[in-house]
Amino acid sequence: MDKVFIKPPVEIRCADELRLLRENDTGKKPENWFLSPKAVRTFILGGKIKTADGTVIIPRKFYGNDALVERCIITLAGNRGLMLVGEPGTAKTMLSELLSAACCGISTNTVQGTAGTTEDMIKYSWNYALLLAKGPCREALVPSPLLIGMEKGIFARFEEITRTPAEIQDSLISVMSDQILNIPELEDDGLILARPGFNIIGTANTRDKGVNEMSGALKRRFNFETVEPVKDVRLEKEIIIREANDLARSGHIDMPVNTDAAEILAVTYHELREGIDSDGIVVDKPSAVMSTAEAVSVFYQTLSHAWYYGNGTVDMKIMTQNLIGAVCKENKDDLEKLRGYFRTSVKNKSEKAGGLWKDYYATAKLLK
Ligand SMILES: Nc1ncnc2c1ncn2[C@@H]1O[C@H](COP(=O)(O)OP(=O)(O)OP(=O)(O)O)[C@@H](O)[C@H]1O
Ligand SMILES: [Mg+2]
Repeated sequence: MDKVFIKPPVEIRCADELRLLRENDTGKKPENWFLSPKAVRTFILGGKIKTADGTVIIPRKFYGNDALVERCIITLAGNRGLMLVGEPGTAKTMLSELLSAACCGISTNTVQGTAGTTEDMIKYSWNYALLLAKGPCREALVPSPLLIGMEKGIFARFEEITRTPAEIQDSLISVMSDQILNIPELEDDGLILARPGFNIIGTANTRDKGVNEMSGALKRRFNFETVEPVKDVRLEKEIIIREANDLARSGHIDMPVNTDAAEILAVTYHELREGIDSDGIVVDKPSAVMSTAEAVSVFYQTLSHAWYYGNGTVDMKIMTQNLIGAVCKENKDDLEKLRGYFRTSVKNKSEKAGGLWKDYYATAKLLK
């Protein structure tokens, strides 16, 4: 029986697409890249490819700013690193995984930045049993993702880089400037030179304490790209539906996704994030993160509830309860803001549009 995994990496999930793109890739390719920049673009932004068996449609995976994706690809083909910054839940990690899988064929060569990340985790460490038995030698060396990236000519991803102390982050500077990592303990064998194809993709969250703590010297070695939240409600609705469908499939939840409820959630998240509703009425913005990723999780939770406890149809009461949980987890004042939003914007929509909006407005009494 095939093994089942909760969330395999992109290169496994999209193995067929990547193979087709590679087999039919006619674009110019930087040395050691898995796909050409043209094919990487198609993989991430969707498009058609002509194969021997006919035309194949590659679905879009990242919505929003196509020019940003192109700039990211071009940066990665050069000798500066790529730093994706932005609000939480704007798909920085997703984009960095997609770029890495498409450019290198692998997305898992990753360092996760935390307050506890050390220089060893960024450069190299030792297998102490082998070190004691054989002394410092290649066999005893435990390479970091950075070192693996340099030797194989692939990307190293550095997630949440600014959660790592600045002096630790700075150990990247010499590698990024000289493309060399020195391992003094190895004497003759100790100079690791980066192969073509090596680069670094960092991600950093502008909400968490962070980006400013990056040293100027390190910042200068990266091209920064800011990933903005999705601005178009229809796109946000599409993302919620697509992600909920994917999650439902992997969770063996076999029920159709209620697209009207997805739309209501997309509108709610969009208007609370932007601070203005579709009638031009100012909305008090909650301090909580109103990201698309949060909307997906509220929607999927509601779907799961309907599957396990309900009759298979989305219950607006449950959706509002999940929304309250997501919005009011950090600051109790956000509940009042949500209440205000229901009192004006949701009420107006329930009167104008009716339908499920009416059911949604009826759940306002839960905001006590
Ligand atoms: N522009 C977008 N296109 C496609 N999916 C998106 C977009 N924005 C958000 N999403 C959805 O949000 C999910 C979360 O994205 P991801 O975890 O990559 O965000 P992040 O920016 O890395 O967040 P954090 O800062 O919290 O680490 C994605 O898996 C996707 O479902
Ligand atoms: Mg992330």
